[in-house]
Amino acid sequence: MEGKLITLEGIDGSGKSTQMRMLAEELRLRKFDVVTTMEPGGTSLGRRLRQAFLETTENVSPRAELLLFAADRAQHVDFLIRPSLNEGKIVISDRFADATFAYQGAGRGFPPETVNEVILLATDGLKPDLTIFLDLPVDKAIGRAGNRTGNNRMDSENAAFYERVRNAYLEISKREPERFKVLPAAESREAIHSRVVDLVVGFLSKERAVV
Ligand code: ADP
Ligand code: TYD
Repeated sequence: MEGKLITLEGIDGSGKSTQMRMLAEELRLRKFDVVTTMEPGGTSLGRRLRQAFLETTENVSPRAELLLFAADRAQHVDFLIRPSLNEGKIVISDRFADATFAYQGAGRGFPPETVNEVILLATDGLKPDLTIFLDLPVDKAIGRAGNRTGNNRMDSENAAFYERVRNAYLEISKREPERFKVLPAAESREAIHSRVVDLVVGFLSKERAVV
């Protein structure tokens, strides 16, 4: 089977990193060759970019922010994601291009055409094979994100910002229901994990049957 790109999306605190860890463990038990990664910061350049513009108190222009997420993604696609897909691996990324559509598009207010052009340049046309959106009401997500360490500049955004981001994700699910699956994420870690595994294993078995 050729490599597959699976992405996890959701507003901050929705449980993406938790579910990515649990999913990778389960897939490895099932003998899949899995690489886990994240945006921003999936490469060493990306980690430096992340520190420079996300983990800072400096004012960052929204245009600079859009382009820095894009720079992080271009490096990620060229040096980690594509090479891993070419080796037949299953790449799971905690966030990818849909995050730019949601955060910089709906969140910051860049027009969709601008955001889509920047995304196309950054991804070089690469699209996820499957995306799982962990959908958590904004007040719950803010509560969770506030409880953990390592908060970044975006964590200080207000509820209205996150509502716009969440709605943009839901919009993608209407446009691309085959690729972009919405999973309610207010239940226990284990309950969500079992739904995530069902979705991913169902998808991978279908792909296997096709190959
Ligand atoms: P994200 O990567 O989407 O920001 P995390 O996986 O880091 O989210 O989870 C945010 C916080 O919520 C962490 O403290 C995590 O332990 C906790 N958490 C994750 N999943 C759940 C869940 N299903 N129920 C309650 N708390 C959760
Ligand atoms: P991070 O701490 O990695 O994520 P999380 O809170 O999901 O664990 O922070 C990444 C932040 O960057 C998060 O607030 C979402 C934001 N972001 C964008 O605004 N646009 C993007 O394209 C990406 C990939 C992330």
